Amino acid sequence: MKGFSITGLCLVLLNTRISALDNGLALTPPMGWLTWERFRCNTDCERDPENCISERLIKEMADIMVSDGYKDVGYEYVIIDDCWLASERDQDGRLVPDPKRFPSGIKKLAEYVHKKGLKFGIYEDFGKKTCGGFPGSEFYMETDAKTFADWGVDYLKFDGCYSNLNDFQAGYEAMGFFLNKTGRKIVYSCEWPFYKLVSGLSVDFAAVRNTCNMWRNYFDIQDSWSSVIDIINFWGNNSKIFTKYAGPGGWNDPDMIILGNFGLSYDEERVHLAMWAMIAAPLIMSNDLRHMRNRSKALLQNRNIISVSQDKLGMQAILLQKVNGIQIWCRKLSDNRTALAFLNENSDGMPRYLKVSLEDMKLSPTRPYNFTEAFEMKIHFIIAKEDHLEMYVNPHGVQLFIAKLM
Ligand code: GLA
Repeated sequence: MKGFSITGLCLVLLNTRISALDNGLALTPPMGWLTWERFRCNTDCERDPENCISERLIKEMADIMVSDGYKDVGYEYVIIDDCWLASERDQDGRLVPDPKRFPSGIKKLAEYVHKKGLKFGIYEDFGKKTCGGFPGSEFYMETDAKTFADWGVDYLKFDGCYSNLNDFQAGYEAMGFFLNKTGRKIVYSCEWPFYKLVSGLSVDFAAVRNTCNMWRNYFDIQDSWSSVIDIINFWGNNSKIFTKYAGPGGWNDPDMIILGNFGLSYDEERVHLAMWAMIAAPLIMSNDLRHMRNRSKALLQNRNIISVSQDKLGMQAILLQKVNGIQIWCRKLSDNRTALAFLNENSDGMPRYLKVSLEDMKLSPTRPYNFTEAFEMKIHFIIAKEDHLEMYVNPHGVQLFIAKLM
C-alpha cells in the first residue's frame, strides 16, 4: 500500500484480505431493491392488490427506480424474494411462478425490467422448500440454474431453509457451479454463513468467498432501531474476521436497507445508511418507493454517502473503539482518504460531545489532515498533530467525516 500512511489497527486489518470468486460481478457492493422486509410473503392480491408479491409490484418499483432518480445514483437490481412460486413444479420439473400473481411469466417480467435499463433478481432455496414453504431447489439445482438463465435472471438470492447444515458447503458450491455453467452472469447471494453461525457452527469464509458474491452472516433485519444496532454491533464484534473476506467481487451482507419504512427516526436512518456504507454492505433497499418521505429519499440518494459505499478499494470498515457509548469506526478509501464514523448508541436524549485526536482515530500524526463532513461535503477542518476533532453526536445518531492526508 504505497503512499498510504494510516498506521495501527486500521491498516493491519485492512491489508489482510483473501482473493476470490471471479465472475467479474459485484466489483463494488451491489445496489438495488428487494421485496422482503417491506412486503414479506403477502400473497393476498384480492384484498391487497397494491402490496401483494406480484408482477404489478415489481413493475411499479422498476418504474419508480427510474422515474424518481434511484437508478441515476446507482440502484440497479430489482429483486423478488420469497413467495413468487406456484406450489408445484411443472411436468418437466421446472419452476413455475404463481399464475395469478405472475400471469405474464418471469421471462416477460425480466424483459420489462431490462427495458428500463435495470437488472432482474429472484429468490430460491437450496433445501426442500423455501422458508415460505414453496418448492426448493433440492435435487433440481441444475434445472433451476438453467431456468433462471433462460428467464434472464441477473441475481439469485439463495436461501438455506429446509436443508441439512452439513450440506451447506457442497450445496452452495453446487449451485454456484451450475450458475457459472449457464454462461449467464448472475450475482450469487448466499445465506450460507448465517445459518451456520447462528447454530454455533464454524464457517469456512474462504470457501464462501470463493463461491458467492455476497453472503448473509446474521439474522434478518426488522423495522426497528434495536434490529439495526444489533446488526451493527455484531459487525463491530466480528470486524476482524469479516473485514478479511470483503472486497471487490465478494461482500458480507448485513441484510437490506429499510430507510423510508415505519420504524426508524431520521437520525436512525442516517446511522443505518452511513454504517451500511462504512461496512461496504450491499445497498439493497426494501421499502415502498411509491410512498417515500422526502428526507428518506434524499438520504437514499445522497451521492456522497453512496460514493463511500462504492469506493473502488472495497475495504470494509472496522470498529476502532468505543468512547462514552460512541463507536468510532474507520474505513480506508481510495486516494489516500479515510472515512470515520462516530455513532452514538446512547438513548439519553442529549447530543454527546466528543473530542478525538488523530491518534484516537488511528491516523498518523506526522502530517495534517483535511476533515470533511461526509453527508453534505460542505464543512471542513484542518487537523494537525496537536489538534482535536470536536463534535456533538445526536442520540442514535452519527457524524461521518472523510479525512484526507494533506
Ligand atoms: C429467510 C431470509 C429472508 C427472506 C425469507 C423469505 O428468513 O433470511 O431474508 O428471504 O427467508 O422467506
